[in-house]
Amino acid sequence: MIASLVALALQTAATSNSAPAPTPAGEEPVAPYAESDANAGAAPFRGDAMWRAFGAAAGVHAIVDDLVARNTADPRITDIFRNRDLVRLRRTLFEQFCYILNGGCHYSGQTMAQSHKDMGIQQADMAALVENLQAAMRGQHVPMAAQNRLLAKLAPMHRPIVAR
Ligand code: HEM
Repeated sequence: MIASLVALALQTAATSNSAPAPTPAGEEPVAPYAESDANAGAAPFRGDAMWRAFGAAAGVHAIVDDLVARNTADPRITDIFRNRDLVRLRRTLFEQFCYILNGGCHYSGQTMAQSHKDMGIQQADMAALVENLQAAMRGQHVPMAAQNRLLAKLAPMHRPIVAR
């Protein structure tokens, strides 16, 4: 009896560990991948100064929503965003920024290489997105020094994102 209970418990644990995370409401399913904060592609800032400079959760949500809206409406890059899961993009981008700004989030998305592969993203596309991010940060009155500190963290990500 005890042996079978232990076996059942082990089996349940094994199943729940290996089961893929359920797809959040409103999102499309994604093939399983290893989740890790390292997938965010940059180490977080220390302390709470950056998180506060960005207006904490409300500010970062507003910036992410504005950034995604600007990207989808931007004729330079709108094609790349067509038919993509923007609900998932808003969620994972928020997590990524929150993690990097040391807002206490975990990043559950894919690596920058995985999530942008086969999109043919060019340096000019990256420049357009950075302009849109700058406009979104300005819209939330993020101080210029804090804007530049985040942009410096994101800059090396052109390597996994831009196609060669
Ligand atoms: C530093 C710059 C960038 C960062 C930090 C970034 C971040 C992200 C993140 C976190 C995701 C979601 C990953 C996931 O779903 O697991 C994503 C997906 C995506 N990114 Fe980027 N990205 C950047 C640059 C770009 C550029 C330049 C473009 C195109 C102009 C772009 C287009 C997309 C699209 C279309 C998706 C959705 C993929 C899909 O759902 O199929 N990204 N990005």
